[in-house]
Amino acid sequence: MSAADLAREVGLRRTFAIISHPDAGKTTITEKMLLFGNAIQLAGSVKSKRSDRHATSDWMKMEQERGISVTTSVMQFPYGGRIVNLLDTPGHEDFSEDTYRTLTAVDSALMVIDGAKGVEARTIKLMEVCRLRTTPILTFVNKMDRDIRDPIEVMDEVETVLNIHCAPMTWPIGMGRHFKGVYHLYNDVIHLYTQGQGSRIPDDKRIEGLDNPEVDEVLGAEQAEELRMEVELVRGASHEFDLEAYRRGELTPVYFGTAMGNFGVREMLDGFVEHAPPPQVRETDTRSVEPEDARFTGFVFKIQANMDLKHRDRIAFLRVCSGKYEKNMKMRHVRIGKEVKIADALTFMASDRAHVEEAWPGDIIGLHNHGTIQIGDTFTMGEDMRFTGIPHFAPELFKRVQLKDPLKLKALQKGLQQLSEEGATQLFQPLDNNDLILGAVGTLQFDVVAHRLKEEYKVDCVYEPVNVQTARWVYCDDARKLEEFKRKASANLALDGGGYLTYIAPTRVNLQMTQERWPEIRFAATREH
Ligand code: G4P
Repeated sequence: MSAADLAREVGLRRTFAIISHPDAGKTTITEKMLLFGNAIQLAGSVKSKRSDRHATSDWMKMEQERGISVTTSVMQFPYGGRIVNLLDTPGHEDFSEDTYRTLTAVDSALMVIDGAKGVEARTIKLMEVCRLRTTPILTFVNKMDRDIRDPIEVMDEVETVLNIHCAPMTWPIGMGRHFKGVYHLYNDVIHLYTQGQGSRIPDDKRIEGLDNPEVDEVLGAEQAEELRMEVELVRGASHEFDLEAYRRGELTPVYFGTAMGNFGVREMLDGFVEHAPPPQVRETDTRSVEPEDARFTGFVFKIQANMDLKHRDRIAFLRVCSGKYEKNMKMRHVRIGKEVKIADALTFMASDRAHVEEAWPGDIIGLHNHGTIQIGDTFTMGEDMRFTGIPHFAPELFKRVQLKDPLKLKALQKGLQQLSEEGATQLFQPLDNNDLILGAVGTLQFDVVAHRLKEEYKVDCVYEPVNVQTARWVYCDDARKLEEFKRKASANLALDGGGYLTYIAPTRVNLQMTQERWPEIRFAATREH
């Protein structure tokens, strides 16, 4: 591999995820993007619908037919001369931790907003997460085929609520039944909307130039005039697109369209591959890693179990940060300090998992995992360093696990350990007793864990309430102080699944009082891997 090859491959990659509130249209727009990437023939076949808003029982069923989630965990497709990697995030809030960590593996994000609903709760939350790494955001205002809110008002809301400047790139012509298309503010082209082309690559009917008399013919004099005035107004009142400000996360280019009608998506994708950043520099505990660095490095941001019933394996998703992955290559698994040979990594072209011969920065590869890989693990060519910024969040819900058959304790411990490594739940073992306490961000996680313990580890368990309301990871530079704290507060201390000391507080007031009493101790709401 020459330096020029590497630089070229880096320049081609665009790795991103979608942030949105459930129902805004993430699934639909994913489908259409794959269609444009020729990754599927007919939209509507991407996935058997969302696991998000399903009841637990449905989710379990889907879990059993797990193939579904793997094919859509990472999707790679070519578009506009680039190679696009789209990382899927679970829609259900109960699995938001997974989403947060996936966002650490992308270089930019696409924010999909339901034009009728505007900025919704989950979008705000996800935007905060993007802010932690100043991830550039591109915006798609969806559902223009409905009577949505005034587009100017929607942009205002994005600006004030999300605290980011908006630069409209396209402008909608009408909405709902009167939706006629979009005007590209920078190319001076009108793209006309034709209904009924949602499941294929739509024709691109265009009129060059806003002042073209054809505009009056097609839209009618009145709507044409209205559009011209609106465009003038919008140009005057909104921010101009500024690539640097976008790349710094201060400004978001905004596109309008309808994912269902597969319209406006092409213009958005064209803008995306043109402006979105290629693989970025990543930080480790010892140095910054440039993607063009010839030494291979990567980190694991997600682990998923038995995604394919035929294989029943666990796959660790590794983001390549620098250098090149080649089949059969040896790498160093830094945390356990061992050289490992990776013969059969998976790639995620279109919707099939296939074996990869090579992968470049920005790409995701799947490593078969037999329990040695954890979320946050770094792989290198021998260097001892760790990528930083892959967080664990303090859970808000806690339950004690009780075995139905006490003889199954070993299997239970093993199962919980592995499930916590995967990030499916968090495990806390108090210093003072033998309880096994599970922590989760959403209740559905508990059901999934019980189900998987039964299916995969043959362990039947029940949950009991436990007097824990919140948890904080505990750090202190002063070893003596820490020992004193461990002695005096041992009733509320536990080790988490990774062996880290954690304060499990019965109430928030208790946590606050403990923090006040022990100013030397740091109580962290997130733990870095
Ligand atoms: P999500 O993944 O973000 O949760 O959203 P999803 O794509 O599943 O879309 C949520 C609902 O919004 C779906 O309707 C979908 O058809 C609809 N939708 C998506 N894009 C558009 C659009 O551009 N215009 C209109 N009018 N609707 C759109 P549903 O009734 O819940 O599902 P289905 O019956 O259509 O499958």
